[in-house]
Amino acid sequence: MKIGVIGMGYVGLIQSVGLANIGFNIVGIDVDKEKVEKLNRGIVTIHEPGVEELLKKNLNKLEFTTSYEKIKKCEVIFICVGTPQDKHGKANLNYVFSAVESIKGNLSDGYKIIAVKSTVPVGTNRKIKEILKVEDVDIVSNPEFLREGSALEDFFNPDRVVLGFENEKKEKARESMLRIYKLFKDKGVPFLITNWETAEMIKYASNAFLATKISFINEIGNICKKLGIDVYEVAKGMGYDKRICGKFLNAGIGFGGSCFPKDVKALIAKAKEIGEEARILEEIIKVNEKQPLKIFEIIRQKGIDLKNKKVAVLGLTFKPNTDDVRESRAIVIIKKLLEEEAIIYASDPMGTENMKKIFPENENLKYLSNPQEAVDKSEIVLLLTEWPNFKELNFGDKLIIDGRNIIPKEKRKNLNYEGICW
Ligand code: UGA
Repeated sequence: MKIGVIGMGYVGLIQSVGLANIGFNIVGIDVDKEKVEKLNRGIVTIHEPGVEELLKKNLNKLEFTTSYEKIKKCEVIFICVGTPQDKHGKANLNYVFSAVESIKGNLSDGYKIIAVKSTVPVGTNRKIKEILKVEDVDIVSNPEFLREGSALEDFFNPDRVVLGFENEKKEKARESMLRIYKLFKDKGVPFLITNWETAEMIKYASNAFLATKISFINEIGNICKKLGIDVYEVAKGMGYDKRICGKFLNAGIGFGGSCFPKDVKALIAKAKEIGEEARILEEIIKVNEKQPLKIFEIIRQKGIDLKNKKVAVLGLTFKPNTDDVRESRAIVIIKKLLEEEAIIYASDPMGTENMKKIFPENENLKYLSNPQEAVDKSEIVLLLTEWPNFKELNFGDKLIIDGRNIIPKEKRKNLNYEGICW
């Protein structure tokens, strides 16, 4: 079976190399000519552990192109383009619809399946059907659940596979999708076969729930800090309860990335559109927006004026093992530090180049490749991403504000240490 994948970002690239490794022949399409050329040479333009190795290993089964003509020979086409946030908080579906139009202009005779992996609001798969207006095409909603930084591991070991079909008559589409994901079925991974709208909502509700856990534990953490309680002990105690589950209860400066903030806002926008209140969802965002500012509360409480204070900002990416800085909490914190006229020494193993595009170097902001140098030059150290090497640094007696529970408890005693909410 030949498979087409539209969009060579995080989702599409993982889907392509993952399916190629299983044994399928893949045509990967992207509008970015330079990216396509690099991929054909086995070069990956994003940082994601293991992907370049797997790409190189399977190059004989992968063809990357900018031309939609190549999908004529594909039986199944995955849409994996981005759905960024528009100015009203809604998901911008322009890339999805433009991919659909391009597919429509290149449909050959014969049956095809279009599988939508992009995160799209409820009703989008139905709209795609209206745009296509072709009989011999089935549309499947097949949301992705990959985490950046461990996307390949998630691809090969999914917790579930969700497949949404127009109706139960779509036997042929179901068979083809089950053939693609047979490996997972054989491993005993649960499959949920449902309709389009349910599949679309499963994706949003899953991300919103994970974001809820984070904002919840951050709020508990803020209360705990005032009461002198370690929220990490509390989370541990809660997590032993299987109904709660300890995962995603790591308190800190809040969630970033290209998914949680955007998807929760898109779900709020959907609720508004249908005249429904989304009070919990709105609070998740509000808690998350306030959480990084707790750093400044701590600084104020210590009576420190940030003007001309030298501050090391360690960690720029929204999480470790990626170079992605989208919606990173470091953005909010750097912005505020610059407003307060602090002098920033920023360091990150992978995120510097991307952060420079948002905040170019200036006389108040320098990027240093060596985090120890940033610490040595500064009076205050902010730990914002849990890169493992940060805990090995020598902090002396500088004030450390830990936003991610990086410094182990036993090391804190001899340091000038403050946890953000513990
Ligand atoms: C998230 C979901 O975890 C994936 O299942 C989903 O497929 C993906 O979004 C998506 O929709 O594409 P991702 O954004 O890559 O994945 O990263 P996460 O590991 O979920 O972390 C998101 C943010 O939450 C990070 O800033 C992280 O530091 C923060 N976080 C996570 C916490 O603050 N505490 C936690 O306990 C966990």
